[in-house]
Amino acid sequence: MALVKIPAEGKTLSSRTAVTSFLAAHGIDYETWTPSHPVASDAPAEDVLGAYAGEIDELKARGGYVTADVIDVKPDTPNLEMMLAKFSREHWHDEDEVRFIIEGRGLFHVHPSDGPVFAIEVEAGDLIRVPRGTHHWFDLCGDRRIRAIRLFQDVSGWTPHYTDSGVDKGFEPVCFGPAYVESR
Ligand SMILES: [Fe+2]
Repeated sequence: MALVKIPAEGKTLSSRTAVTSFLAAHGIDYETWTPSHPVASDAPAEDVLGAYAGEIDELKARGGYVTADVIDVKPDTPNLEMMLAKFSREHWHDEDEVRFIIEGRGLFHVHPSDGPVFAIEVEAGDLIRVPRGTHHWFDLCGDRRIRAIRLFQDVSGWTPHYTDSGVDKGFEPVCFGPAYVESR
């Protein structure tokens, strides 16, 4: 279950209704899907895509997505910092950013044009669709682990347009869910 934090308002949302309706008001679709197809932590991407073929097909039909892949990041992923640096600067895409989290956690920051920046901490079972054009950035949580299915409307895949606004620098890339607050 995702959590939402709005730092400027000192607010954290944790109930399903509050999270879903807050995100919907910002055009972000949020659902939870039980990861009902257990796949081993080290299973190759093809196996993950195969196991979730039914869900992927449903999403493709719903949103016009043409291709799917699996992003699989662990603390020992080669060039991890370089990869994360691409995600953690404010950017937007010409297409929706759709992620279904299978394992691990992550932190999206969203910078709406008409309100304060908010953070969404996602975990396994969360399906999120950030609409095209939305300014956002992404960080991993302290455990540096995420595995997620990504869907794309363009076969060329993940293309960021960086804003270079510097807004991202004003927000700590720190997760705030129950697994993280205790250690801070
Ligand atoms: Fe993005």
